[in-house]
Amino acid sequence: MKKFFVTLALGATLAGTGFAMTEGVENEAVKARMMLMDGVKNATGTLGGMAKGEVAFDAAKAGEARQALIDHAAEVPAAFEAQEMDPKSTALPAIWENWADFEMKAKAMGTAAEELDASELEWLQAGMGTLGGTCAACHKAYRVKK
Ligand code: HEC
Repeated sequence: MKKFFVTLALGATLAGTGFAMTEGVENEAVKARMMLMDGVKNATGTLGGMAKGEVAFDAAKAGEARQALIDHAAEVPAAFEAQEMDPKSTALPAIWENWADFEMKAKAMGTAAEELDASELEWLQAGMGTLGGTCAACHKAYRVKK
């Protein structure tokens, strides 16, 4: 049951994000924040793959991915602070109209990663739903639906 929920949450989060969409992005600030999100995706993918049993659980790798998410969450505000746009960007102007909330949602992702115990598979599985929920909450409000 828990596994099912994890799969659902992650599926919804990662759907349609198969590869980096930064190709052809002219605006360097936009490119940088997309790369940052790409790093977030990779770390989440590492954890999700283990949680779903697609790859063998590796506590060291899981710990690294968890730390990367904590670091990336802290980098989100600076990466998004300037209201830069690019035709390829999927960021919504609502970010800068609701900046405090956007920052809070970035923080929520960092907190979820911090609270994730990546030392054992069962605990990792237990925390993935919450983590995935923080991606979804921000994307739902601040990213163009694809
Ligand atoms: C605080 C808000 C916020 C949080 C939290 C967040 N994202 Fe994002 N994410 C965005 C925004 C905004 C964009 C669009 C950036 C752009 O196109 O300019 C984005 C884009 C992306 C992209 C596309 C990058 C690209 O190359 O176009 C991926 C993949 C992604 N996010 C994955 C995740 C995952 C996985 C999580 C959770 C672990 C997460 N995000 C959490 C705001 C957030």
